[in-house]
Amino acid sequence: MLEALDQIEREAHAALEAAADGAALEAWRIAFIGPKGRVKAALGATREVPADQRAAYGKRVNALAADLEARFKQKQGSAGAAPRPSSGPRVDLTEPGVVESQGLGRRHIVLRVRDELCDVFARMGFNVAQGPEVEDDEHNFVKLNIPADHPARDPADNFYVDDPARTQRPRMLRSQTSTVQIRIMEQASAAARGNPAAVGGLAAPIRIVAPGRVYRPDTVDATHSFMFHQIEGLAVDRGTTMAELKSTLLHFARAYFGPDTEVRLRPSFFPFTEPSAEFDMKIRLRPDQPVRWMELGGCGMVHPNVLRACGIDPEVWTGFAFGFGIERLAMGKYGIPDIRMLYENDLRFLKQI
Ligand code: DAH
Repeated sequence: MLEALDQIEREAHAALEAAADGAALEAWRIAFIGPKGRVKAALGATREVPADQRAAYGKRVNALAADLEARFKQKQGSAGAAPRPSSGPRVDLTEPGVVESQGLGRRHIVLRVRDELCDVFARMGFNVAQGPEVEDDEHNFVKLNIPADHPARDPADNFYVDDPARTQRPRMLRSQTSTVQIRIMEQASAAARGNPAAVGGLAAPIRIVAPGRVYRPDTVDATHSFMFHQIEGLAVDRGTTMAELKSTLLHFARAYFGPDTEVRLRPSFFPFTEPSAEFDMKIRLRPDQPVRWMELGGCGMVHPNVLRACGIDPEVWTGFAFGFGIERLAMGKYGIPDIRMLYENDLRFLKQI
């Protein structure tokens, strides 16, 4: 019986020596030291060994098992070959996952349109500016030339944080992004103070767009919400004209909506611009639709009182400004019938656009 073990040992050594790859190594493992291999079988045969030799046989077979196991491990390590599982599913770790189950997110449509608008204006030389959403009435109204008795200041039409009847400079959620015009002009004229190159309160022209949230206590319906987004534009330079305003809007419209776009201005009134206009764009919102006029927003030449309130001399500098709603544009562009759909966070809707 012991010779049989010697035989197994010789064959095992030779075969292990010859095993050149992972597959051969695995075949060796199965043949010799696997649960159905020859060492296991030899161990099972212990019962058949005559009683007086059984102890020696047992010792020998156990030593053989341990030795072959050790040799196998060593060879495996040096070959760098990991044993493949002989059964069960093979796992390909390089295979890409199933995208659907990972639930990849996407940017909200309002923010996508906002960034697209900023990109187009940036190419036209406008910097992107920001202002706080919790403002004070000085920036939301006073410096925008909106007088104390103006109906726009009615507490019922604004989200005041402080009581306007009892506070000097009541804070409020801004109702328009025009507040950022004031903040930027204030900053620019403050920065120009003491600068010998500054004339009339400014050292350099201003050219910004300011996108952001605005708040109004409107009754919510298909086209109104208590919160929505606007984008504001402001350019202040020497000799800026209404013609430059219109050509800026036209260039923007053509860059964003395509070359057959048109722009028209209709006379209007805003306290912070003089003259003031509303602007419409004749745009093809989607390829499957004809071009049509869409009312977009307000614009005009910055009122001298507004420039003065920010420390800028209107005899030296003139400016134009414009502002329009982002949701309205997004809804037109993507055929969204109800503004509330933008804020319900219904994934079935959000995944479509
Ligand atoms: N702030 C105005 C609004 O919310 C829109 C607007 C009109 C902005 C004229 C402007 C402007 O900059 O010049 O209705």
